[in-house]
Amino acid sequence: MSYETETLRLLRQSLDEEDDETSIISVLEHHHKYLREYMSILTGPEISPEHKQATLYLFFPIFNMHAKAEQDTLYRLLQGASNHEVRLEGLRGLDEHEIAFEIIRELQEMGAETSWSDEIDAKIHVLAGLIKGHIKEEENAMYPLVERHFSESKLMDLTDNYLEKCKIYLDMEMESVPSAVSRSDVLTFFY
Ligand SMILES: [Fe+2]
Repeated sequence: MSYETETLRLLRQSLDEEDDETSIISVLEHHHKYLREYMSILTGPEISPEHKQATLYLFFPIFNMHAKAEQDTLYRLLQGASNHEVRLEGLRGLDEHEIAFEIIRELQEMGAETSWSDEIDAKIHVLAGLIKGHIKEEENAMYPLVERHFSESKLMDLTDNYLEKCKIYLDMEMESVPSAVSRSDVLTFFY
């Protein structure tokens, strides 16, 4: 089993242990920490292309898992809200996810996980800039708005649902992760 696969397996296991007696917002913010950590590697000027490629093996599945599960739970709640501002936040988040999914598809088609070029490097910076801005907007504007409009118990109810969706999406992602060579020398798992 490659290190990337093992890392995803550990994340998968940790989803079972995540506290579902907490608000979905805390769990989403916890998952943002993974994304931030990996994006700092992906855009680090001193980091080797090999290390960045290894990081992509983890970043793509974890972003896809998080974003799709968030859409199915929190965004769905926002889109059905009576308040215009809340609905708009949900739709805006969805649009930003769609753009990120598209850039990820392009990077995969370019073979970013196994080859390297200036074009790939540039596109990764565009993706990281988009996702960093998206996460910042969520944490600074969307989530506080959500906490003002929905009760703590409503947000706690969503947690279990979010975690179940994460498991389904991560399982799907793991099925498509190639058995890559182990790069345990360059990756750390920080859960
Ligand atoms: Fe999001």
